[in-house]
Amino acid sequence: MLRVTLFSAVLAAASATRLESLRLRGGQQKEKVCIIGSGNWGSAIAKIVGRNVLDRDQFEDEVTMWVFQENVDGKNLTDIINNEHENVKYLPGVKFTDNVVADPDLTNAVQGATLLIFVLPHQFLGRICPQMTGMAKGCRAVSLIKGIEFENGGPVLISNLIKENMNGMDVSVLMGANVANEVAQDEFCESTVGFKSKANGEIFQKLFDCPTFRIGTINDVAGVELCGALKNIVALGAGFCDGLGLGGNTKAAIIRIGLKETAKFAKMFFSGVQDDTFMESCGLADLVTTCFGGRNRKCAEAFAKGEGTWDEIEAKLLNGQKLQGTITAKDVATVLKTKGKEAEFPLFMRIHEIAFEGKAVSSIIDL
Ligand SMILES: NC(=O)c1ccc[n+]([C@@H]2O[C@H](COP(=O)([O-])OP(=O)(O)OC[C@H]3O[C@@H](n4cnc5c(N)ncnc54)[C@H](O)[C@@H]3O)[C@@H](O)[C@H]2O)c1
Repeated sequence: MLRVTLFSAVLAAASATRLESLRLRGGQQKEKVCIIGSGNWGSAIAKIVGRNVLDRDQFEDEVTMWVFQENVDGKNLTDIINNEHENVKYLPGVKFTDNVVADPDLTNAVQGATLLIFVLPHQFLGRICPQMTGMAKGCRAVSLIKGIEFENGGPVLISNLIKENMNGMDVSVLMGANVANEVAQDEFCESTVGFKSKANGEIFQKLFDCPTFRIGTINDVAGVELCGALKNIVALGAGFCDGLGLGGNTKAAIIRIGLKETAKFAKMFFSGVQDDTFMESCGLADLVTTCFGGRNRKCAEAFAKGEGTWDEIEAKLLNGQKLQGTITAKDVATVLKTKGKEAEFPLFMRIHEIAFEGKAVSSIIDL
């Protein structure tokens, strides 16, 4: 009798644990979110996502955030985040909800996750992806990374790199006119989810959308992602204009030419790119905001004023953040030269010449 009772108790406990671990609610598994990265944008998005999951039934309350451990004033950054609910290094002055839990152990942070948010400079991806095991079956990802890689003379999307490194996981992208500090202050803006799987695009829309951060969706991962990557080149051109003291008309011209070259580049190298994408937040709107604010514009202005090399300017102005536009400008110029397409991209090529080949900054307007 005792054995039967014990057996039933064990069965009941196992079943409860299984139910708990499956996080069943109304027959549906709840989504468990893990943010991979905790810089300026990763932290801003942690504020939005941490708040959103608390009032949406399909998400678990706890959001884990993998943090590259750093020492800040003698303390671990993860301890500061978990005690003060603030990333004092990368997003000072902004509080997370306390369901956002920082974890320096990547393998631990992703355990059981069904939704991964990749938001870190892409140069670190190669090292971190192999450490990511233990996610739930059917786990999907969204990349917030603005960058691009080049292999065999052609561009490679960061979302594709993630997919390849994560056993074919479906990867959507989120890009838009989203300067992190403004998003974190709940200043109204829009953003765009580019998806391949409509259902996954909709899940990410639900995860990110709120009254101050409105999310549109479009079936075009490549177009959305390339807008996010290439705008950093155009922002260098805008920064050169600022350094030269040129006005709004000139910058508007740089933005217009930059948007056309972005669309041309995307269509030249990828199929399925839609014209509509360039009028979404990820396209025109992101280009405008990046050319007026943002780190690439700021550093290019300093470069135009002769304030140092790119490395010196990055170290002086960005407090550990990374400058993406210069790397992208170099890679894009290389691929355009390889393909013999320089003449079709006069702005991209000119920005590269100014940034890396000693061409006068004033030549930005000789297009
Ligand atoms: N900041 C923005 O306004 C913004 C907006 C939209 C998209 N993005 C994009 O989001 C991505 C992340 O940018 P961010 O602004 O959050 O980062 P960031 O430049 O503010 O911070 C750098 C991050 O890299 C981490 N790091 C440093 N060394 C590392 C290492 N060896 N291994 C792993 N991680 C390391 C740091 O801990 C930090 O989290 C970029 O692709 C960026 O273009 C940024």
